[in-house]
Parts: sequence; C-alpha cells; structure tokens
Amino acid sequence: MIKAIRGMRDILPPDTARWQWVESVAREVFDLYGYKEIRLPLLERTELFARSIGADTDIVAKEMYTFPDRKGDSLTLRPEATASVLRAVLENRLDKGAGVKKFYTLGPMFRYERPQKGRFRQFYQINCEAYGVETPELDVEVILLLMHILKRLLPGELRLLVNSLGCPGCQVKFKAAMGLFLINREGLCEDCQRRRTTNPLRVLDCKSAHCQGILQKAPVIRDYLCPDCAVHFTRVLELLDRFNVAYEVQPKLVRGLDYYTRTAFEVAAGGLGAQDAVAGGGRYNGLARELGGPDLPAIGFAIGQDRLLEVLPQDFGQENRTRVFVAALGEPARERAFTVVQELRRKNLAAEMDFEGRSLKAQMSLADRLNAAYVVILGDKELAAGQAQVRPMRNFASQAGDAVNQAAMQGQRLEVEQEKVRFEDLADYLSKKIGSKEMS
Ligand code: HAM
Repeated sequence: MIKAIRGMRDILPPDTARWQWVESVAREVFDLYGYKEIRLPLLERTELFARSIGADTDIVAKEMYTFPDRKGDSLTLRPEATASVLRAVLENRLDKGAGVKKFYTLGPMFRYERPQKGRFRQFYQINCEAYGVETPELDVEVILLLMHILKRLLPGELRLLVNSLGCPGCQVKFKAAMGLFLINREGLCEDCQRRRTTNPLRVLDCKSAHCQGILQKAPVIRDYLCPDCAVHFTRVLELLDRFNVAYEVQPKLVRGLDYYTRTAFEVAAGGLGAQDAVAGGGRYNGLARELGGPDLPAIGFAIGQDRLLEVLPQDFGQENRTRVFVAALGEPARERAFTVVQELRRKNLAAEMDFEGRSLKAQMSLADRLNAAYVVILGDKELAAGQAQVRPMRNFASQAGDAVNQAAMQGQRLEVEQEKVRFEDLADYLSKKIGSKEMS
C-alpha cells in the first residue's frame, strides 16, 4: 500500500467541517477589516524565498523543498506566503493608489522540519498582509484583527508576545553588540557558532537549551532602538493598552525569518506543548525594496491552522446541518424515493437515501448514523395513497418521539408520532419543521 509522505497528512471528515468553519470565521473577520482574498501559486522561484526569508535562516538553509524543473530552473514549494503575496502585489501593481492595501490568503505551506505534535511538513496558514502605511496604528489594527479571529475561535488562554526589531540602522548596531557578546562564548551549537559572525540576531532564535542559557545575559535589542523606532514601539504598546489587549514584551523575540523590522509578535496558545506558537508576524518595511520594488511599508501575520485546530474545542464547528433520510420499501418506492431526494435537495434540504435495497430496520439505523432529523417512509401503500409517512428521529424528536424511535430501532411495532404528508407538500412541510427547530 502506498502511504502519504512523512509529515504530510490527509485531513478527513468530520474534521474537514471544523477546518471549513475556521476558514469561514477568518474570512468573515477579514471582511470586517476590509481585507480581500488573494490566491497564489504553490511554486515560486527559489530566489524569491532565499532573498526574502534570509539565506541563514533554518527555513532557507534546511527546510525548503527545492528542485530543478525540466528546464533546470530552481523552484521551491512555498515555505510561507509573505514573500509570495508581496511578489504578486508588486507584479500586479496592487500597491498603487491611496490607502492601506489589505490582502489575505489561505493554504498549504511546506517545510522539511522534523514532524512532531503541531509540526508538519505540509501545514496550513491563514495569512494576512497590509501595505502602504508606516504608522503604529496599522500595527495595532493588524494585531487586533489577529486577536479578533483567535478569540472567536479559541476560548482558552492566549499569550500575545511583542518586541521591536528596529530598523536596519538599529539592527546593525545590535548585531555588532551581539557579535561582541558571543565572541568568546564556549559551547554554542554549530549553527550559532557560524551565525555569531554571519547573522548574530539569528542566535537569539536558537532552540538549543545550552545556547539559550548563554543568551540569558545577552544584550537586548530595545536598548539599541533609534529614537524613531523607540517612539514607534512605545506607541504600539500604548495603543494595545488602550484596547485592553494583554501582551508581554519579549526582548528576545526575533522570529525565524530575516525580513522583520520594528514590531514583531507571536501568539502562544495553551495546550499545544512545545510548539505553542499559534500565530506570528510583524512589520517588514524593507522587503519590497529587497525584491526590486519600491519602498513599501508592510506588516502581516500568519496563523498556523493545524495548531489552531488542535486546540479548538471538539464541539466547535461540527457539522450541524439538519438532514432528511428517505427510506423506501420495494423497487417502485425506491424509484420514487430517488426523485423525492432530488426534489428536497432542490429546495435546499440535505437529503439521503439507501441505494442497496436494505430492510426498513437497516435503513432506519443508517438514517440514525447519518444523524437524520426526519425520515420520510415510502412503501407500496404510500405510493398508492400519494402520501409519505414522515417521522422525527432521535436527536431531533421530542421525548415521546425518542421512545418511538427507540422502539423502531428495536424492531417493535411503530406507534408513531408520524404524519402523513402528500408528496407535493413534503419539501414545504419539512422546511417548516426543520426551520422552526433550528431557530429555537
Ligand atoms: P512563521 O512564524 O514561520 O511566520 O509561521 C506562522 C505560524 O505557522 C506559526 O506560528 C505556526 O503556528 C505555523 N507553522 C509554522 N511552521 C509550521 C509547521 N511546520 N507545522 C505546523 N505549523 C507551522 C510566517 O510564516 C510569516 N510568513 C508570518 C508573517 C506574515 N509575517 C508577516 N506576514
């Protein structure tokens, strides 16, 4: 048997209903804040990611799915969406015109990481990117939007961690200080030994406990912010206070990608174990220029959808559409049932039937398994009378109906709270019944 690739999994029903629900909530909130959807290719030129994420990051150095195409061009399965969204925005001149340009995109990303709880090689992100404005108000609006989506979905505790990475000027000074601090430190991991000269800021993002121990006394970037960056960060924090958003300033938060400038943030959710970052983002004012475009201030975030789904309570977003099951006895009734099912669906009622000639008892348990609210019963007698029997099912019925259904399931005589309904009235009758129950 051929199996799925390690770190890549199938997302199956009934889980898919929860995934769709999360996506619909995110879309609804994006719409509230004026964001428009953008859909992008999964493959890009390798150079796009190497230039934006940074050659010395784990993502680019170790985790990209990169291969030559048939012409020998180097292509990469996108490890994230920010670079792709910006490429699309610049290529299609979506940055032109007044105001903030706001886009969101949903879909799979690919990183060759070691799979573990909450970490996959194909994973899904809900991405948000805003362009064109440098003011701290936009930083805060984007964080409010992120928290709005997460709070609609997760009742549990969320920790918002924030930091400022300054502008390139601040980063040059801070990297020099870090380089000095790291110069004679013993026992740094192999990556950090290299990075202390190539990109000392990256060392802060190291996962090794030993390196983190050494970093306890490392300089903090906030002390190296220029006056403009310091004012920007203070204003972001003030505005978060004004909106009563709880946050923790985390001086070592640098994120795993090199393009960030000024505000950077992550959200951690309880219940996720080691991989507890459910979302991350920040400003990246220099990236458009880096990719050959104009100066274009930018900020965004990505929610890790797999992790979000892991902490989403089981009963959230489960399919709750009310279904009708049409049970038929005998060939002529089955013929008629096929038409009835189609007629009900045309009237927007979710309907099912049995195609395999099961007994009435077996059809009733199938209806039960499908969580049907009503069963429409058709036999020779019903065909002759032009009327079907309609019976409420367990989950939907009154106490009395429950007892009746129990009896039916056990093959006892049906003393039913069931009604006779003319074929032509079935859709209206069921719509009313289901509609009134769903409202209550
Ligand atoms: P990131 O922190 O690399 O940022 O990823 C964002 C989120 O994606 C993480 O917080 C995590 O929830 C999820 N994630 C990352 N890797 C995996 C994985 N292997 N398995 C499962 N989930 C994962 C970015 O990607 C930036 N592009 C975010 C951004 C948007 N910054 C500005 N705009």
